[in-house]
Amino acid sequence: MTDTRIKNQTPQTHDASEGTTSRRNFLQAIGMGTGFIGLNAFSGLVLPASVQAQCAPPAGTAKKFARDCRSIRPRRPAATLTGSEITKLKDAYQAMRALDTSDPSDPRGFQRQANIHCWMCSEGGASLQVHGSWKFFAWHRAYLYYHERILGKLINDMEFRLPYWDWDVASHRKLPGAYTNPNNNTNPLWNSTRAMSPTDEIPEEDVGDDVMEAALEAANFAEFGGTASDNGIPEGAPHGSVHVDVGGNMGFFQSAARDPVFYAHHSNVDKMWSDWNKGSSSHTNPTDTAFLNLSWTFYDENKVLRTITAKQVLDHESQLRYVYGPSRFSEILPCLFDWIVVRTDWRNLRALRVTPAIRSSISKVQGSRARARLHLTGVTVPMDKSAVYRVYSSPEAARKDEGPGGDGYLGTIPVVLNHTGGQHIHKRTRNVVFNLSPRKVETLSRAQGAMQLTLVERGAKEDARRPIRVTAVDSFFTVADVQQ
Ligand code: C2O
Repeated sequence: MTDTRIKNQTPQTHDASEGTTSRRNFLQAIGMGTGFIGLNAFSGLVLPASVQAQCAPPAGTAKKFARDCRSIRPRRPAATLTGSEITKLKDAYQAMRALDTSDPSDPRGFQRQANIHCWMCSEGGASLQVHGSWKFFAWHRAYLYYHERILGKLINDMEFRLPYWDWDVASHRKLPGAYTNPNNNTNPLWNSTRAMSPTDEIPEEDVGDDVMEAALEAANFAEFGGTASDNGIPEGAPHGSVHVDVGGNMGFFQSAARDPVFYAHHSNVDKMWSDWNKGSSSHTNPTDTAFLNLSWTFYDENKVLRTITAKQVLDHESQLRYVYGPSRFSEILPCLFDWIVVRTDWRNLRALRVTPAIRSSISKVQGSRARARLHLTGVTVPMDKSAVYRVYSSPEAARKDEGPGGDGYLGTIPVVLNHTGGQHIHKRTRNVVFNLSPRKVETLSRAQGAMQLTLVERGAKEDARRPIRVTAVDSFFTVADVQQ
């Protein structure tokens, strides 16, 4: 694949209203349309100026968040909606899309809704950026909340709640049926630009238990949801990986919310926050006023501009009136003792050396339910495309790139660009945590001397594979025993 050929393809701008020339057809034409979905089919895609121009901030004076007195209703897995629930969901998006043409100035229209995300993720600049820090979970929760209210209002049913795409459940890794059936512009939940076909699945490596545990067992909010300046674990994997895997509009923050599946994806990301909070009494949200007072504005279902603060979204059940179904994770996650930090000499070596002392600490996970994790802080990531990178324990293993079951594999780091023109990415560094399965522990224990951790873009053809040595500020392990 060459960038030039992709660039020559005009990106799709009006998803539901256009003809049959989909990006997928284009990809098929160049021989990339089927099979493995992590192919970065969208590297080089440039969004048209018209899309960027439409992306503007909400204007006007805002009223305060109004206390929500609706009944508490469940958000449900998109794959398990009944026929009549699917009809409602489609009617709601149909009505929202209709506003784009009947009244382009109505802030409740689909395009205008999508542009909010565009503005907050790229065009508004660094101070508004809602990715890469503790703003991530709170802002997206507030955004979905008003989006959900608008959808409800448009079908005259304020009991309506968004569905969630629970890609963490192995049988739900395809795009939820409602969003692909029919897979054409008669379906208001369809989007023509997806790289993922209705039969593709999000790879286990991106959303499987290994990734979910690394996130949901995060010791504190800084690790789970980030700080004022750094990202939390799940914002990378699984959140970013799913963006890359769905591809098309979803592959860039600027355009992501133009795919209706964005909202179902983010509903599941929001559920992770809810599950993390429920997972342990020590999983509490930040109490810093700098966090609690973060405030944003959104149009509500009556076109009234409202401010909402981070503090006002912390308890989704009592404040925002929705709950998520029983969580598989609150049932299966073990009750962990506190994580113990096992330092390494990464700061001197810029490489990972597993000394006998470290080896004996992390090898506890073998044959017991104890947990061990590898942390990489301040990892510099490539910023030339939206892609998923795999991390291996050596350049040789990266060159082989055998994947999750293979030699030296440690985990993934997804990179989602804002867009491809101008400011590519909001931040070049990432904090990452890999859950260490017994297999990975074995890899690390066998290593002689210092390991040069190495990144490689997933899915790159062998002759195009360019292993990149991991540069990180620090790397250390954490281990925890399980309370019996
Ligand atoms: Cu604001 Cu999933 O991105």
